[in-house]
Amino acid sequence: MPRVGLREIYSLGRVVAQGQLLRYARGDRGYTARFEARLAARTQVDHVLTVNSGTNALITALAAAGIGPGDEVLVPAYTWVASALAPLAVGAVPILVDVDESLTIDPTDLERKITPYTRAIIPVHMLNLPCNMDTVMEIATRHNLLVIEDACQAVGVSYKSRSLGAIGHLGAFSFNHFKNITSGEGGAVLTNDAQYFIRARMYHDPGSFMRGHERCNEPLFAGFNFRVSELTGAVLHAQMARLDPLIRRLKSRRAVTAAALEGFDFCRLSPHHDSENAVGLAVIFDDPEVAKSFATARGVERLIDTGRHVYTNWEALFAKRSFHPKMDPYQWANRDIEYTTDMCARTLDILSRSCRVTLGPDYPLPVVKARALALRRALKRAGSQ
Ligand SMILES: Cc1ncc(COP(=O)(O)O)c(C=O)c1O
Repeated sequence: MPRVGLREIYSLGRVVAQGQLLRYARGDRGYTARFEARLAARTQVDHVLTVNSGTNALITALAAAGIGPGDEVLVPAYTWVASALAPLAVGAVPILVDVDESLTIDPTDLERKITPYTRAIIPVHMLNLPCNMDTVMEIATRHNLLVIEDACQAVGVSYKSRSLGAIGHLGAFSFNHFKNITSGEGGAVLTNDAQYFIRARMYHDPGSFMRGHERCNEPLFAGFNFRVSELTGAVLHAQMARLDPLIRRLKSRRAVTAAALEGFDFCRLSPHHDSENAVGLAVIFDDPEVAKSFATARGVERLIDTGRHVYTNWEALFAKRSFHPKMDPYQWANRDIEYTTDMCARTLDILSRSCRVTLGPDYPLPVVKARALALRRALKRAGSQ
């Protein structure tokens, strides 16, 4: 459940009392601008731009980076569909890549899927689990590709002392109802590159030319409206105070729960790319039926059964159907692209054997410890069936 309360009521009340609901009305003194400054400091990036969704953060990042028709963008086969559809919005096409047992993009398959037309990679940090960013960045550098991190599900999470979303050339956060901090709907683009930031700001606001922004020789291009209102900014500014405590609670609860789930020969914790700072937890089994049985426990979900995050269910992508036949990115692609249900069979196999375990960040630690023991018993039962 989203954590909202008095802090948010207070900030919202102030915005309403001031009667200035446009984010640009109060300049740097506005809540949205102050939220951006706080998030930039927290994630150690030079630039943050708040937008109205994580999907639009991805689209804005792609547009800012100059990705467009003819380009291929590598996307994992396990993610929310928006990661795969975002490239279509700028005229590029998504190419699906397997995940490995870390449940994030598999560097080996990633490299296999690179073609002369590949321009970018969207590694997705699912379930607060970081991708193997060192390897992703190394591959990207070697092949001269851009990296746009989809950190929508991992706001505030770190990887080897760096913030997810701040490692690639650009990053995208979501603040929808289910995310680590929330304004109901919302998102942010992160980058250290001033030119990308200027382009992102232009793209997300058709009125950017009249706001007195520094343009640094970037010619004005047509933008769209992905702005947030000051109401969103007020909620997000208040939410920032909740982020670090949430991450700390997730970390301590993850440690307790993970310890209880180790030591079985029929399953193991899903490998984590920075286990010392882990705030997400999944268990991987040898047998999908055992995973299915464990998933009957409370707070456990077998990943293949979540459906919506599995590429085989992305109907619009498979149909390659856009809102207008002439606005069809596949006709601009440099080769025929087809999607088949077995194209990422390894992902399907891994998801059928993996369960996520929710960590209950709002429960007191003694309750989490009792729950961890109950989960251990459930695991034992599943393995002995
Ligand atoms: C991995 C991932 N990418 C992108 C998005 C899109 O975010 P939004 O719902 O804010 O558009 C989500 C949202 O669920 C997500 O989980």
